[in-house]
Order: sequence, then C-alpha cells, then structure tokens
Amino acid sequence: MSLLEELRSLQAKAQAELEKLADSEALEAWRIRYLGTKGALKDAANQLKDVAREQKPAVGKALNDVKNLLTEGFEKAKTVLGGAAKPKAAGGLDVTLPGSAPAIGHEHLISQTVDEICDLFGRMGFTVAYGPEVEDEWHNFDALNTPPEHPARDVLDNFFLDGGAMIRSQTSTVQIRVMENASPPIRIIAPGRVFRPDTVDATHSFMFHQVEGLYVDEGVTMSDLLTCLDQFCKAYFGPGVPTRFRPHFFPFTEPSAEVDVWYRYADGHEGWMELGGCGMVDPNVLKAVKYDAEKYTGFAFGMGIERMVMVRHGIPDIRLLYGSDVRFLHQF
Ligand code: DAH
Repeated sequence: MSLLEELRSLQAKAQAELEKLADSEALEAWRIRYLGTKGALKDAANQLKDVAREQKPAVGKALNDVKNLLTEGFEKAKTVLGGAAKPKAAGGLDVTLPGSAPAIGHEHLISQTVDEICDLFGRMGFTVAYGPEVEDEWHNFDALNTPPEHPARDVLDNFFLDGGAMIRSQTSTVQIRVMENASPPIRIIAPGRVFRPDTVDATHSFMFHQVEGLYVDEGVTMSDLLTCLDQFCKAYFGPGVPTRFRPHFFPFTEPSAEVDVWYRYADGHEGWMELGGCGMVDPNVLKAVKYDAEKYTGFAFGMGIERMVMVRHGIPDIRLLYGSDVRFLHQF
C-alpha cells in the first residue's frame, strides 16, 4: 500500500472512530492515537522521506489535508463531549464539577441601623455604652425619678422576674449605669433591646430596640439638645427633613419633649412621625448618681429603632424584622 493509500484509510478509520466516541476521555485517547506526537499521523510524516521525489508534493499535501481534517473533527467533538478529558477521582467522583456555594448571609437590617446610628452620633462626639438586659428597679425606675406609684411601674406593663429583678423596659437604665461609674463630661449613646408585655401586631412587639443618648457637662443647654437631634434626623432621614419638638412629660427629664420628624413615607403620603422622647436631665436624676446638680446640666433622649427603620425603608409590619424570611432580609 502506498503512503497515499495508507493516509486515506487512516483518515477514514479515524473519522469513523471519532463519530462513535462516548466521552471526553475517549476523545483524548483518540487525539493521542492520531494527532499525538507519537500518533499515526506523525508515523506517516516520518515515512515521507522514503517517498519518490515526484510524488512528495502530492503526499505532503495529503498529509496536511488529513491532519487539518482530523484536527477540525477533534475540535468539534470537543465542544460536544465537553472539553479536554477531566481528571476523575476513584469511584467516579468528578472533582472538577462546580461545588454548591454556601449561602452567605449579612448583617440584619437592625444591626446595620445600630451601626449607622453609632456612626452618626460618633461624629458628634458620642461614644457607645451598653448595659444589662436583666435589671433592677433602681436602674429602671427609682434612679430615673420614677416613684413606686408611677403607672409605668405597673406589673402588667413590665416583665418582672423573681427577687426584685426585671427585664429592662427602656434603655434609660444605661444613663444611670454610666453616671454611676464615671464623672462628667459624659457623652454617650446606648443602643439595645427593651422588653414590654405588649400584644404583638404590625407596629408592636414584646421586644424592640431603642437608642438612648446622654450628655452631661457644665453649661449643657436645651438648644444643644435640639441641635443634636435635628442634625441626627437630617443625617439619617435626609438633609431637608424638618423636625419639631412638642412639650411632653417624662419623669427623668424637665422640661421634656417628644421629637417628631416631617417625613414622606414610602407610599407617598407625608406627615409628622414621632421618633422618641427627650429633655433636660432632671436634677433628681443627677442627685441619684451623686452628681452636683448645681454645677452640671445635661440632656437625654430615647428613640425607637424599629420605627426609624420601618419609616425609612417603607416596611409595613414590624414582624418582618424578626422573621427569618431571607427573601425579605436579603433586600437590605
Ligand atoms: N425611656 C423613654 C421611653 O422608653 C424614652 C425617653 C424619653 C428617653 C425621654 C429619654 C428621655 O432619655 O429623655 O419611652
């Protein structure tokens, strides 16, 4: 058989085999057999030197043609059979298959908001303080100028525990704990969870978050308070938002006010939204922590965090914040 004939039958055989290959492993074996450095085509090329001179151009061309055809066939088969042969571990496990990526979570919206609040007040010189959730009545009420007969101390409005303890109903407790352990100037915020036996509905929960603020020093005035909260509201809700302060009563501040922010809600309507309470620290509170109430004045405030979050993000139901529906949580 002449080399030319050999080439033709090689081509026919290779192409016939190529059509029957089952997987990328078989394809790779085929490539090595025909197109590899020790493959059949290489053999044929090595025989070219023995071919009669006048036949060389024709045989050389035939060699090239067969090589191109087979290479083309290989490339096509590769796309069909899935690329180069994949390494396989024993037991038929394909270690090159993509794994299943673990679902990566992120900080909860409430935690993100607490961070943002700490950051915004941090720019005004406030540091962050924390207090315990299990409290005593001294820190939750007495030191905060709230006498035993005050309605806020009702057994039905608080979670009392055995032995005179309770779960705190407000973060104002941290005011007392901070002042008991340090002297003025004091400038802290205290974010945290508070607990009240409220019936759960779209806007109430037995547990929610507050951020408390306290600034005590010589010469602190009510205009410092108004400026501080106004600046905070503009930073959190948007530069243009108006704020207003309405006279109110809290046992631990005098005078006291409630702070509202004028806000355009997600559904388009606008109105005043109550953010929380504030006021000038009552001298009785300063006396309870043995501060000189003649020398020092201060302001305090307490705001509900869920409220702020729900208004800013247009969340209609507080329970969404405490559920584990990742379709909701992943939006933030
Ligand atoms: N502790 C109050 C509450 O939970 C909120 C509050 C009002 C905090 C006035 C303050 C304040 O520090 O000065 O309703």
